[in-house]
Amino acid sequence: MDVLEAIFTRRSIRKFTGQPIAEEDLKTVLKAGFQAPSAHNYQPWDFVVVRNKNTLESIAQVHPYAKMLPQAGCGIIVCGDKERQRLTGFLVADCSAAIENMLLAAHGIGLGAVWCGLYPVPELTKAIAEILNLPSTVIPVGIVVVGYKNEMKKPADRYDESKVHFEQW
Ligand SMILES: Cc1cc2nc3c(=O)[nH]c(=O)nc-3n(C[C@H](O)[C@H](O)[C@H](O)COP(=O)(O)O)c2cc1C
Repeated sequence: MDVLEAIFTRRSIRKFTGQPIAEEDLKTVLKAGFQAPSAHNYQPWDFVVVRNKNTLESIAQVHPYAKMLPQAGCGIIVCGDKERQRLTGFLVADCSAAIENMLLAAHGIGLGAVWCGLYPVPELTKAIAEILNLPSTVIPVGIVVVGYKNEMKKPADRYDESKVHFEQW
């Protein structure tokens, strides 16, 4: 799929067939995450791939808006390491760029995906850190829930001329 087509047709998919994704597709999605831009090119991310049914259930139990996770069958928890980027704003921006790259890659290869936020909700980041046994310097920023789609969504055109300012506000 062409990059602009992917950007303009990607939507959040929250219904999944339950079929496990192929290893090769998982690798493609992960590689897209690693290609993201990052401040100073520090690449402060780590990716925790969760496919274990019990772990997926545990995450869905603590996250009120990630109930689709067990059905998707795969969650990639995108984490930022404060030891590799001490400015949290940049850390979150870098991990967010990786998440968006992964969403687009998943869409580009025909999978469905949704971004489930973690940071900056303290209850969520704490619960996920415990479930995944994260080191104390690592912040879980978001989850890329990915799997085979069981819903189709029309593209949404959100271009809004009134929010575009040329030269000055
Ligand atoms: C930071 C962030 C956190 C989000 N968290 C959730 C979430 O927890 N659960 C969910 O179902 N969708 C979540 N979303 C997806 C948004 O709801 C979705 O992107 C938005 O409604 C626009 O729809 P679209 O992705 O289909 O274009 C999140 C998106 C972002 C950027």
